[in-house]
Amino acid sequence: MIRKTNAFSLFAALGLILAAPSGLTSAHAQEREFRIGLITPPAHVWNQEAAALGETLAELSDGRFSLSIYPSGQLGNESTMLQQLQTGALDMAWLTTAEVTTRAPDISALHAPFLVENIADAAKVLRSDVAREMLDTLPSATGTVGVCYAMTGMRQLMTRNPIDDVSDLSGMRFRITPAPPIRSFFEMLDAAPAPMPLTQVYDSLANAQIDAIDMDFESIINFRYYEHAPNMMVTNHHMFGMVALISGRVWARLSSEDQEILREAVQLHCDRTIDRFVEEEDEKLARLREAEGLTITEDVGPDFFGDIVERWDAEWAERTPYVARLRELVAGF
Ligand code: BEZ
Repeated sequence: MIRKTNAFSLFAALGLILAAPSGLTSAHAQEREFRIGLITPPAHVWNQEAAALGETLAELSDGRFSLSIYPSGQLGNESTMLQQLQTGALDMAWLTTAEVTTRAPDISALHAPFLVENIADAAKVLRSDVAREMLDTLPSATGTVGVCYAMTGMRQLMTRNPIDDVSDLSGMRFRITPAPPIRSFFEMLDAAPAPMPLTQVYDSLANAQIDAIDMDFESIINFRYYEHAPNMMVTNHHMFGMVALISGRVWARLSSEDQEILREAVQLHCDRTIDRFVEEEDEKLARLREAEGLTITEDVGPDFFGDIVERWDAEWAERTPYVARLRELVAGF
């Protein structure tokens, strides 16, 4: 009982200090080390930009802010990190847009199959007002503030055995990022989706627990998935977004000046991440063309998948108006 009272007083005092206007507190009292979690490994562009974010935060805060990075799902998978953000145990995370779709179904629209034809248009969608509007649902749905989107490129199909026809996908155990809109896509293809975190994919392929994966060039290069799935179809069948989240509890305790520093710094590195993916996507495909043992089938368009776009839209347009709104946006590009 006594311990509870003390803990509460300490928490309340801390809250007061953090919430006080900047003129009333010493610079020392506002020094702050933020913690950011990512599922991706240190080599990934997200992690490189997260490291650069630490430097930007230090610069913009005159050295008051620093950032410690927890890569490779060290703090748990993405759904665990989302819970930690909600409780305030974690300050920030860069999560896949796929992860938030369970709680914020509108964001599923970003995973609409063949929404965009290329990565440059994916960047335009992620920077659009329509897409940004969907971030407004995050505080109530997840207890987080969604500052901006970035991405990890377009998604491709990698399979253990060669694929000649869409019917070959039938019954295939396809690893997917856990997310209802992605599950729907593979179910509609009569495949057997196997949701699992990124950190389990390589071993699951190596142990033959799965036959195929839905993946982006960056991760294919980082993890060398072609060692166990040596056939890649360049489908670009959906964009794979990232959303930069800050714990709502942490956010509420920051002064408006400090919130602005965080917003500016995170936005800068979302933008840089998007620019890097747009600039480097072709180069990554060129590198994969050189990968030993990998057979690539290029330019596999929506026609290969039959009427998947119509069927997916028919189901998901019922669940969120953003499917129609994003299709309309892209039609105007
Ligand atoms: C994935 O779950 O496939 C994934 C997650 C983060 C970055 C890249 C891929």
